[in-house]
Amino acid sequence: SRKRQVDETLSSFKLSQEQLQLVKARMRAGLEAGLKSKGPSAIKMLPSFVYHTPDGTENGKYLALDLGGTNFRAMLVNFKKSLQQNVRLYHKIYTIPLEIMQGTGEELFDHLAQCIGDFLDYMGMKNARLPAGFTFSFPCEQTAIDTGTLVSWTKGFKATNCEGHDVVSMLREAIKRRNEFELDIAAVVNDTVGTMMSCAYEDPQCEIGLIAGTGTNVCYMEEVKNIEICCGEQGAAEMLKMCVNTEWGGLGDDGSLDDIITPYDTEVDQNSVNPGKQRFEKLTSGMYLGEIVRQVLLDLTRGGLLFRGHVTETLKTPGIFQTKYLSQIESDRLALLQVRSILQQLGLNSNCDDSIIVKEVCGAVSRRAAQLCGAGMAAVVDKIRENRGLDHLNITVGVDGALYKLHPHFSGVLQKTTKALAPRCDVTFLPSEEGSGKGAALITAVARKKKEI
Ligand code: BG6
Ligand code: GLC
Repeated sequence: SRKRQVDETLSSFKLSQEQLQLVKARMRAGLEAGLKSKGPSAIKMLPSFVYHTPDGTENGKYLALDLGGTNFRAMLVNFKKSLQQNVRLYHKIYTIPLEIMQGTGEELFDHLAQCIGDFLDYMGMKNARLPAGFTFSFPCEQTAIDTGTLVSWTKGFKATNCEGHDVVSMLREAIKRRNEFELDIAAVVNDTVGTMMSCAYEDPQCEIGLIAGTGTNVCYMEEVKNIEICCGEQGAAEMLKMCVNTEWGGLGDDGSLDDIITPYDTEVDQNSVNPGKQRFEKLTSGMYLGEIVRQVLLDLTRGGLLFRGHVTETLKTPGIFQTKYLSQIESDRLALLQVRSILQQLGLNSNCDDSIIVKEVCGAVSRRAAQLCGAGMAAVVDKIRENRGLDHLNITVGVDGALYKLHPHFSGVLQKTTKALAPRCDVTFLPSEEGSGKGAALITAVARKKKEI
């Protein structure tokens, strides 16, 4: 029957507890290998040069720049020490057009400088020469808090002449070319690190940052003595831990996930701008889930099981299923008629049976994503627990990203899976309120305080 054939297709997305345990074990092995190796490893484990979470004494006005998934955000953050925990934020969002994401590096950074100029105009602060923190949500090799060499683009960016270059210098040069305002760029941070810091300002138990959005990634506080790749020796009392940007999206780039990867995933990987790279990310994040769904729908339609066997141009169009549509389709409050109307908006004519199947496909793909993230998270929290020689760990994860925040089931499945696979850890997930910018500003505050001393 039709139902049986659909179930059979979707069974390749079902993961058993044993398989999830295996993923946890591979994530753990990947984290350890990344900490040890100087050479390339699937999980990069990049040092952030952030040694502690905020202590509440941060003070002053900072500019936070945030190049995340699809947007660039500029914000002004004002920490006032006297009025306890009083933070004021002003921000503006700029979109990054596709031709800029995929043009030259100079064009991309000129565009950022132009947006910053516009924001400073808007705030009336063109002459302030503010200290700035730059959230740059791509893998960077850092040797200090204010330098970061882009290792490789991810998430569909491919601007030329950036890989292998220091992104802080590139931004400084673009600002110089513009010759309109000055900035003192004090820190470059990954979005996971900014998110962790931002949440840690509210909750001191927050020592992990998670992004489940366009891409996926985690950072956490690691013992400096374990970070052989950079800092093995540094031992001053206030530098015992350092936040590590894991870049866990690279798990599987050495083939370690081949046994769970389906032909649909392979198709999505092959059609991406970075085939063979970020395999875990391609199973779990917003930029790719819709594409996996689309591949399954194409296959079911070709098999005559959907849309009366009509493969339309729409269905052949990459990128039609964005996270927000998946989230709507999977919402339990939605009647099937509404699912059909969403599909209609996307240009897909469905009948009632079609809409049921589409919803099932979305569910299977997003559930696997959340379970895989949970398995990865279980590896991270158990590592921290063992680092500290504890039987039991209480810890908070600061989280951001549209998949986590908009999807109706992702967060629940993530939590349940983490709990099941790391039973000795109590993990609280805390959604970040103002994005990672506040965290970048906090890091900037600390960096500038140090310089004054
Ligand atoms: C934002 C953070 O809120 O979330 C960014 O400020 C981060 O730094 C982003 O990159 C991730 O979410 P998404 O869904 O836009 O990829
Ligand atoms: C990608 C980037 C990573 C970022 C994540 C979430 O995985 O490589 O640096 O943190 O997306 O935005």
